[in-house]
Amino acid sequence: MRKLYAAPLALAGTGAVAFGYASVLERNWFRLRRFEVPVLPEGRPPVRILHLSDAHLTPGRSRLIHWVRSLDALEPDLVVNTGDSLGHPDAIGPFLDALGPLLDRPGVFVYGSNDLYSPVFKNPLRYIWRTSQADYKKRRREPDLPYRALGSSLQAAGWLDLNNRIGRLKVGGLDVEFGGIDDSHIGRDRYDKIAGPVDPQADVHLGVMHSPEPRNMDRFVADGYDLLLAGHTHGGQVCVPFYGALATNSGIDRKRVKGLHKHKGAWLHVSAGLGTSPTAPMRFCCPPEASLLTLVPREPVV
Ligand SMILES: [Fe+2]
Repeated sequence: MRKLYAAPLALAGTGAVAFGYASVLERNWFRLRRFEVPVLPEGRPPVRILHLSDAHLTPGRSRLIHWVRSLDALEPDLVVNTGDSLGHPDAIGPFLDALGPLLDRPGVFVYGSNDLYSPVFKNPLRYIWRTSQADYKKRRREPDLPYRALGSSLQAAGWLDLNNRIGRLKVGGLDVEFGGIDDSHIGRDRYDKIAGPVDPQADVHLGVMHSPEPRNMDRFVADGYDLLLAGHTHGGQVCVPFYGALATNSGIDRKRVKGLHKHKGAWLHVSAGLGTSPTAPMRFCCPPEASLLTLVPREPVV
């Protein structure tokens, strides 16, 4: 009889340990990733971009709030937030509290679907065979989270709203042109509103989006953007050791689910994000992160 129960008990015990690790430990092991991106004209000084994404913040996530606040010590020249900041109707205050001194720096933002729609439970395994895009088409019509108030607060701090907009900022002595789109995952992207060649007078051109959809990335590249920034994938969130992400929940391939890669002629940085949906509060082999991207001059053509 003992043998009969031994295997199921061992399996249940291993599952409980793995769940505890993923939901309590790794979910709070925030890490900073650093990349150098050679996109500046020769002779320009380096600039530092802090890329934040997918906080999915709920009140009470004090470790996340304190860690994000501490990133101001990196003295970034620019903060880029690629959306999914909210995970609760009362999260705006805590999110602004997390940004804290970062709000005094130049910043830009776009929305993600979770800034508009409150979390609902979904079977996380189904991300393996399809994206969650259809859920919004079928059931989620009216936004129920205060995304406009979030945007107003960020704009009041001087940050640029890049949802289907272009913009321009002086960043660390550079003239930076931005193009951004609202979230393609819920069909709010309107690339036509920002379409057109970038201004060659600007020092560098950044394309900002929530979900890294190749059809939009192709258009950014065709218009001359140098670096594209996105989030949304959570890096796969629950990954398999030595294999990686099981799904990207978007059109991008698994190999570029997070980190710095090329997309045709441009660079692409996808953030694995700071949080998780409150309905699937775990991370495995994919710690929560923010990234510090240092833009440096391109290699001179010899
Ligand atoms: Fe997200």
